[in-house]
Amino acid sequence: MSPNTSRRRFDTLLVHEGEYVPTDGVRATATPIFATSTFVHRTAADLDQAFDENGLVYSRYGNPTVSGFEQAVGAIEGGVGAVAFASGMAALHVALLAASTPRGALQPAPCAILAAQDIFGTTQTLLNQFFATQGWSVTYCDMTDPQAVAEQLRRAPAILFFEPISNPLLKLTDLPALVALAREVGARVVVDNTLASPVLLRPIAHGADLVVHSASKYLGGHGDVIGGVVAARSHLLQDTLRRYSKLLGATLGPHEARMLARGLKTLSLRVRQQSTNAHQVAHWLAAQPQVGQVYYPGLPEHPQHELARQLFGGLFGGMVSFDLLPAERSTVFAFMDALRLVLPATTLGDVFSLVSYSARSSHREVSAEERQVQGIGDGLLRLSVGIEDVADIIEDLEQALAVVQ
Ligand SMILES: Cc1ncc(COP(=O)(O)O)c(C=O)c1O
Repeated sequence: MSPNTSRRRFDTLLVHEGEYVPTDGVRATATPIFATSTFVHRTAADLDQAFDENGLVYSRYGNPTVSGFEQAVGAIEGGVGAVAFASGMAALHVALLAASTPRGALQPAPCAILAAQDIFGTTQTLLNQFFATQGWSVTYCDMTDPQAVAEQLRRAPAILFFEPISNPLLKLTDLPALVALAREVGARVVVDNTLASPVLLRPIAHGADLVVHSASKYLGGHGDVIGGVVAARSHLLQDTLRRYSKLLGATLGPHEARMLARGLKTLSLRVRQQSTNAHQVAHWLAAQPQVGQVYYPGLPEHPQHELARQLFGGLFGGMVSFDLLPAERSTVFAFMDALRLVLPATTLGDVFSLVSYSARSSHREVSAEERQVQGIGDGLLRLSVGIEDVADIIEDLEQALAVVQ
């Protein structure tokens, strides 16, 4: 595809990497949408060779528009490449299967997964109701505490899985420390980097093996596409991802790939503005009597504020969570209904601000007891701060708080 661009810097890669460059001269500045299921070659022998060499054969195997998006994500995450999927959940599923595949094997072998206790609720359901019922052993622990991880690692899990910024409590994991611990027992490290985005954190640079994104969030960024992607540290894992993607078939379509590639170009600008806005919103919320705890890594009182400083290059992200008082469903519903700008909808990372009631959305399938253990109370709201004028966002929150007072 593109000429050698490996020395380009992050913001340049976001804008240019993966754009389609045909070999015959004139080209469009934007990658065309190759809306095709299959590809015709000049001769039967050429088609036969394409099968052998992972060339263009059939769009479930590979498609130039999708490949461009994959190439861009592979480059910005610092991996050898990436494989795109129809959703973040499909990406997680295949990433965990690939990480469960012993070196040299062609299929996954059930193994032990050590997962962070506060991962996305649906991922927990995937681990509990799919992997754990098919022979994998799944254990959870508090990964904000490297000591607790070190103890669990004595059981020598094959996979360590976590989100560097947890959802919705925005706890951080010390990624370099956990990677070092995993290396000692030969565990593969799989990271869901959706909330951080590659602008804040590039886990492969710290030694992670596979980096998963729900591309439906920050990568796309405009609330108009569902997709997922996994970047790989090694060719072995990249090849395994591709093989399973072809076989299981939850591949990304070319239209979605084009929208995601377009989203990537402004990722850095968006995340920087979202971080700036979120910082101001968090400070404002912390001063409101109707608000209990505010969870934001940029606040000095956040228990991992220093770690966030070290890991995220001076940014703290666009997500802010807070406990609305009194902590009860009726107050939360009234607050959400009173909002006029901030959208009460279940997603995050978009250009527009969103609010989500964790107990009834991301953690809907998690039992009330388990939610309490995790600290996700009945008043917890998660804001995904957008790029609107921050004064308008705060004004909207203020009028909604006044309504429920
Ligand atoms: C952290 C995280 N991982 C994975 C997913 C799943 O992604 P998708 O909805 O694209 O399947 C989500 C979705 O909300 C998420 O928030």
